[in-house]
Parts: sequence; structure tokens; C-alpha cells
Amino acid sequence: MTETPTPADLVADLTLTEKVRLVHGAVDPEGRATGYVPGVERLNIPPLRLVDGPLGVRVPGESATAFPAPVALAATFDSALAREHGAALGRETRGAGQDALLAPGVNLIRVPHNGRNFEYLSEDPVLSATMGARVVAGIQSADVIATPKHYVANSQETHRASVSAEIGERALRECYLPSFRDAVEAGAGSVMTAYNGVDGVRMSDHRELVTGVLKGKWGFDGFIVSDWYGTEAAAAAANAGLDVEMPGTSPEALHDGTEDEGDESDGGGFDDLPESIARGMPDPRTCEGFAETLANAVRDGDVPESRLNDMVVRVLRAMDGVGLLRDADERADGAVDTPAHREHAREVAARGTVLLKNDGGALPLDDDADVAVIGPNVDEAVLGGGGSSETTPVVSTAPVEGFESRAAGDVTVAHGLPRVEGVSMFDLLAGDEETDEDARGPDVDGAVDAAGDADAAVVFVRDAATEAMDRESLRLPGRQDELVERTAAAAARTVVVVNTSAPVELPWRDTVDAVLVNWYPGQAHGDAVASVCYGDADPGGRLPVTFAPEAAYPTAGDERRYPGVDGAVRHDEGVFVGYRWFDADDDRAAGAGDAEPTYPFGHGHSYATFEYRDASVEAAPAADAERRATVTVANVSDRDGREVVQAYVRPPAVDGVDRPVRELAGFASVAVPAGEVRTVEIALDERAFARYGESGWRVDPGEYAVEIGRSSRDARVERVVDRRDEA
Ligand code: BGC
Repeated sequence: MTETPTPADLVADLTLTEKVRLVHGAVDPEGRATGYVPGVERLNIPPLRLVDGPLGVRVPGESATAFPAPVALAATFDSALAREHGAALGRETRGAGQDALLAPGVNLIRVPHNGRNFEYLSEDPVLSATMGARVVAGIQSADVIATPKHYVANSQETHRASVSAEIGERALRECYLPSFRDAVEAGAGSVMTAYNGVDGVRMSDHRELVTGVLKGKWGFDGFIVSDWYGTEAAAAAANAGLDVEMPGTSPEALHDGTEDEGDESDGGGFDDLPESIARGMPDPRTCEGFAETLANAVRDGDVPESRLNDMVVRVLRAMDGVGLLRDADERADGAVDTPAHREHAREVAARGTVLLKNDGGALPLDDDADVAVIGPNVDEAVLGGGGSSETTPVVSTAPVEGFESRAAGDVTVAHGLPRVEGVSMFDLLAGDEETDEDARGPDVDGAVDAAGDADAAVVFVRDAATEAMDRESLRLPGRQDELVERTAAAAARTVVVVNTSAPVELPWRDTVDAVLVNWYPGQAHGDAVASVCYGDADPGGRLPVTFAPEAAYPTAGDERRYPGVDGAVRHDEGVFVGYRWFDADDDRAAGAGDAEPTYPFGHGHSYATFEYRDASVEAAPAADAERRATVTVANVSDRDGREVVQAYVRPPAVDGVDRPVRELAGFASVAVPAGEVRTVEIALDERAFARYGESGWRVDPGEYAVEIGRSSRDARVERVVDRRDEA
């Protein structure tokens, strides 16, 4: 048996041309991969196929499991489920014959309007980093390269290709980098750079953050890939540390499958981008590809050959890590659309559903209740938002189907309004700005009648979000608010199911009985939401993002903060992102103070009732965490339920340092049967106490309060950790 050559052995045998071929994209002869690196047959190096991500596998014209949006996964606060989720995504990727998944999206949710928030996890770095890292570990466990994206500070779609995020060092370290750091630690084989810049430097050229932090400080040994048409000057990017340039072809070559001869074209339709989307697309004409320039740059000494060798070794190492350089039968295999993946998609959709309010026990519904299922889109599953994450399922269940198959009482259906069209980056690029007029006109009166005749009205509302465009407002599109208000006035009981990418305003919330945030639930929409509404599943979700009035967010009311002025977005709020902003008072974060959340971070009810007992914070015996918080959760109701226990650390006041009032330190999702108790442990490492100061991470001496409870605003027990003696 011959030894498999190592990446270093292989590089030594490659010609300059072959090396360059391994560090940029080309046209996939099968037309299936999102990004394709041809191999080198002579040395038995197979091609590398990269595919989108992150809601499922997107191969044009093919189907796969359409999983719930990542924001729904994050709402489960269940890191074991995130690991399973990653493994399912990985198996689907292998099943589709692809090697790398362009996922997870781990950008912090800074701007509530961001059109891609549904692809991301949370406004909180600990939740985002923990869940993202488990997804990465799951993907890699299936012998698939995970590609956490977009490194870093890609917080908006407006001007995403040109804007520079002006973030201070501390906010970058404390808020925006941790998800990438933990993804690398979890074994990601690749990282994708963002289109935007940070502090005036384009991310694909950002030597300090790419070579210095990612590769240097964190020891990342995989490859760094550009976002599609995200580079500018090839030599500068290579020297800064970028390893692979994508897609490496002109848009028309990608589209019609011809080999690219260098981009002599007039831009492949990018000349006249529709205005709706022009502010969100990179311009391929300004992108200098590695294919055309890198070999000469090496010959001319502009890029050291040692750098090119390192680029190639990194690609080969990541390939080797998932078995691509070994015999094919040694690799884990996979499949798309398996029964297990369908079930997992359903489970995440149900478990990620957040019960914001439930007056008078409006939910769960009685089996034999007569229900009016109302809403403009109740005949279709909300699969996701628009753009590179669009996934086409083999099967899906719409809300109406979910209710019809679960209900024992009568189910009537009323749309009330014309269909709310989703928006898709692809349609907008093709110039299809106007969506088909719905032949069905508005009939709010009909919906009101249906609501009045039923025991309960379940009203489905939704937003529309896509890559390449931010949402204009946090109001629900069209007349959906009116539909809710009028049906609620007529119904004996009103339950509103909110299918959105991220926060929306809920102006009618006090007039309805129950509100469920069900995000973009994917193919199992109907089954999942019916299982929650009838109490077969407990709503285990908690908010991974604060719901607040539009004007209350830190990015509101100041164009310099969002969407930016003169090509720059200023992060004046610093580390006060998300609930940190809403918790702060004016002294700590200029502009904060009177901004109150509608529903705070971490909020969500269970159908069960829990009590918290016997909390302690002690030194942990294991070496992986310095301390652990322990608490006993008692389910004092007669229903089985699921509790998400959250631990927040409140740091001591330190002169001259503005710290958030509290920061999430850890969490655990635990099923507790009726009448039983469970003891929950949450590891608290040094990061839970530290802040990033001028000389790096440090723990200030003082007393830290550890709040353990149900949300960022609902601490049930508190313990003090005395660190006054520490230097
Ligand atoms: C997106 C990436 C995606 C890539 C390939 C880009 O426009 O920003 O998230 O993976 O396209 O489709």
C-alpha cells in the first residue's frame, strides 16, 4: 500500500500554473457547485466543490431538505441540537456530492433591518459563538468543510460591498470576533471574508485581521476564501492572507457554463443593475481574479512563492481534513432529504418557536376547537429569505395543512389579504422587480367573519427579506397589522404566528391573546407550528434578538451608524449592541437610556411553569472551565416542558470603563417532565468575566453577580463571585 502524500509533499510536485489553479474558482463542468476548484489529476488531487448554505444545500434545479433559518436554530439555545443540525447539513452536502458548505453565517445581528439576519444567529456574541461552533463541529463531522462567514462585521446589505465598518478594537474583540474564533476552534476548514471593510481596509485585504488575528493569534490552518467577487487587487489580497478567490469566473461564464478567458466583458448585466438591488451587489468588473494575475505576480516577485505555497497547502490541508485526499470509500457518505433530516427540520422549527405572550392560557388549543386559520400566505411554507441561501425542498407543509391534519375540530381558512410576496435577490437581479399581482383581492371582512365564527383565530403574518437588500422598516408589509387588529376584535381568542427574519414591530400585541415567533421555519412549517399550537411540542424557543420599536435600536436615527455616510458606518454604540444597549443608561452608552425592549433578549414562555432552586457558583473540577453555575429547575406544572436556563454576569463598576450591565455567560436548554426537577450546570470560563482592554483580555478585581434565570430581564436567582483579591 502506498502512503498518501501530505499537502506539503504535493506542493513540492506542483507547477506554478497548477498551484494557481488550486487557489481560485472555475466553472463547474456539472454546473452544480456554487464554487469549484478543479483538482490536479496528474497528482490525484480531486476537485473541491463548495456549495451554499446555510439553510440547506442549494444546487440549482435540485431539491434538498429546507431547514429552518439559523435564527430559529439559535432561538432553541440548545448547543447539542446545533451540533446535530450541523451534522445534518453536512450529510446533505455530501449527499449532493459537494465537499464544503458555505455556512454557518455567524455575523452578529447589529442592525435589525439587515436583509440577511435570518441567516445569522444572534445579537449576542456568546449565543452566536456557541451555536455557530457546534454547527461547525457537526458539519466537519460529516467530512465536509465548514465555512463560517462573513469575516467580519458584515452587518448590513446596504452598500455591503463598499462600506467600511468603523469599529473600535474593544467592540471588535468582545462582540464581532468571538463567533469566528470559536468556529475556528471547533475545526472549521475554511473561513469566508466579508465584502465590507473594517476601519477603511477591505476585508479580503485585511492583513491584520486575516493574517494577524485569524491565522496568527487563533492558529487557523485552513483556507480563507473571498466572498463572491469580493476581492479587488489580487496581489494585495494574497499578500494580506487571502488563500482562495471566488468565483474566479465572469458572471456570464458562471451562468452559461463556458470557461472563462479573463473578464473582457462589459460586466455581465451588472452595468444596469436595478436600483432596488444596486446598493447591495459587488461589481465583478472591479474584482481582479487570481486566475489572470497571480502567476505573473509570483514571477515578478510581487507575491512570494512561499505565500502561494502556503495558500495551496491550506487548501489541501482542509481537503485532507475531510478525506478528499484519501480513498473515496473512507469518507463519510451522506444523503439529501432523508427521513431523519425531515424530522430534524421539524424539530428545530418547533423547538425554535418563541411564545412571546400567552394570556389566559390561550395556547395550547383544545384538540376539538374550531379554528380559523387566517393570513395571506397560509397556503405555503415560509422556507426562508431570498438570495444565496434559498433552498428548494422535496416536501413541505403549509400552515393550513399542518392545522388540517392535526385539528379534531373544524378548520376554516381565510386569507384576508393578497399574498405577501417574498423577495429574492435573484429575481431582482433578473430585473423582475414587480411580482405577479395576486388575483385574490383583499377580503379583510371575510377574515373577520371567519374569526368571529371560530373558537380561535390563528393569524399568520410575515415579512419579506433577502440578501443584497435591507428591510426598509420593521413594520409588517402591507395591511397585515390591520388584519390582525380587526380579526382580534372579532375573535373569541386570537393567536398570532409571526414568520419573520428578525424583529418586527407588534403594535397590536396587547389586543391579542398569544403571540408566537416562528421565524422562517422551512419545509416543516405547518407540522411544526401545529404541534406547538396544540401542545404536542413545548415552545422551547427564546429570543436571540431583542424585539423593540424601530426607533429604539442603537442604529436608528443616525445615518452615520446606519446605513453609513461617505462609505463608512460608525459603531458609535461600541459594545452596546442588542440588549446591552437596551440595558444601558445614558451615562454608559450615549443615546441609550429610555429605549425599552418590547420583548427582551432571552424572553419566551413555556407551557409549563418552572421554579429555580438551590443555585450556586463554584470552582469547576474540570479544567475546561474555571467555574460552574449550578441550579435546580423544578417543573411545578402538570405539563412536560422545556426550560432555557440563562446565566448572565454583571461586572463590577470600574472607573473609566463602560461595561454592559450584564452579559450572557452561558445557557442550557433542558426538558423537565411535569412535577420533576433537573439540575443544570453552566460552565463559566474566564471569558464570562473578562473585558478587552488596552493590554488585552483582563478580569477586573471586584464582585461579579451571576444572574441565573429565564431571560436578560428575568433573573430568578443571583450569586456573587468575589474576585476582589485578584490582581
Ligand atoms: C454571499 C455568500 C455566498 C456567496 C456564494 C455571496 O453573494 O454573500 O454568503 O456564499 O455569494 O453564493
